[in-house]
Order: sequence, then structure tokens, then C-alpha cells
Amino acid sequence: PTKIGVLGSGSGSNLQAILDAIEAGTLNAELVLVLSDNPEGYILERARRAGVTAEVIDCGGFKTKFPDEKQVEVAHRLKDAGVELICLAGFMRLVKQPFLDVFPRRILNIHPSLLPAYPGLMAWKQAVNDGATESGCTVHYVDAGMDTGPIIKQARVPVYSNDTEETLHKRIQEEEHRLYPEVIAELIKC
Ligand code: GAR
Repeated sequence: PTKIGVLGSGSGSNLQAILDAIEAGTLNAELVLVLSDNPEGYILERARRAGVTAEVIDCGGFKTKFPDEKQVEVAHRLKDAGVELICLAGFMRLVKQPFLDVFPRRILNIHPSLLPAYPGLMAWKQAVNDGATESGCTVHYVDAGMDTGPIIKQARVPVYSNDTEETLHKRIQEEEHRLYPEVIAELIKC
């Protein structure tokens, strides 16, 4: 099985979808390390419950900055754990060159919009505010930009006129939980 590392910041529902796919036998992978820059992130709890090592990335009080030295340290922590493929799952800091160089084309991200539409924060809110009639999610390779890397696969959902941020995000997340494990499974077969 391919050794996967996951980086997140929040509730970890995408991590859960990956764990569930491994458990169900539809994803031939082993989750070896989960890292969160948010010590309160429920993602840590989900990992530990599944028996996966989970650690906090301490960015020294910086809210969004991910200092270069820290990027290198984290990348090497993942390498040392034997990680072959990294999946960002709601990770709210930008991964940049020093990190990317350690895992060239081996870092994926899931984003809650049909990129290139609505990059950045709270893409579902951007879609609602913009009056979009369609949105979705995108799995892409991570490059040094914000949600700009090569797109691997997308899933579409309708946006209804009575949608709120919450109802749209929920509909998108249901697709995320299906799409992310499916794309990872396809990639590790290659
Ligand atoms: C997901 O919807 C993910 O697409 C989004 O954060 C949520 C994390 O949920 N990511 C981004 O917005 C990244 N730009 P989760 O912690 O329950 O997986």
C-alpha cells in the first residue's frame, strides 16, 4: 500500500473519507501521519481514533504564515515517516517551494469550487454571494500558487437560489468525500 500523509486544519471530514475508503478496501493505501497546524482541529482526534499518528505543526503564533524553515521541517518529518503521497485536506496555509521540492508532484489538494473559479478562502461563500448556479469541488496538484496547480478531476453540484453558505458547503462536501478517495485510488494505481 502507498503511504499517505494528510495535512489539515479543521474538522477532518475529508481525512475521514480517506480513512473510510482504506477501511472499505477501495483505496490501497496506508495513512501514516496526520499533521494539523490547529491544535484544536478535530482532524487530530479522528486520526488518533483510527490509530494514526497525529501531530501539531507549531507555526509559532503566526495565524496564516508558514515560515520557510517550518516548511522544510514538516516536509522532512513526512519523508522520515515514509510518506509517498501528501493529501492536503482543509489545510489553511500555503505550501511553498521549499516544501514542494521535497515532494515534487506528490502533493494533492481538494478545493471546494470548480477551479479556476473562486480560489482562496470560503469558496462556497464566494459562490453564493456571486449568484453562481453551479459549483463543486476540484482535486489538483499543489504548486506554489493559491489553488492554481494542475487540475486532476472535478465534481459538479447545482447551486439553488435558496442556498445558504451552509447548505451549499454541505452539498459540496458530500462530493468531496466521494471524489478525493476516488482520485487518490486512481493515482496510486499508476
Ligand atoms: C473542505 O471543504 C475543503 O475543500 C476546504 O476546507 C474544508 C475542510 O473540511 N479547503 C479549502 O478551502 C482549501 N482552500 P474538512 O476539514 O472537514 O475536510
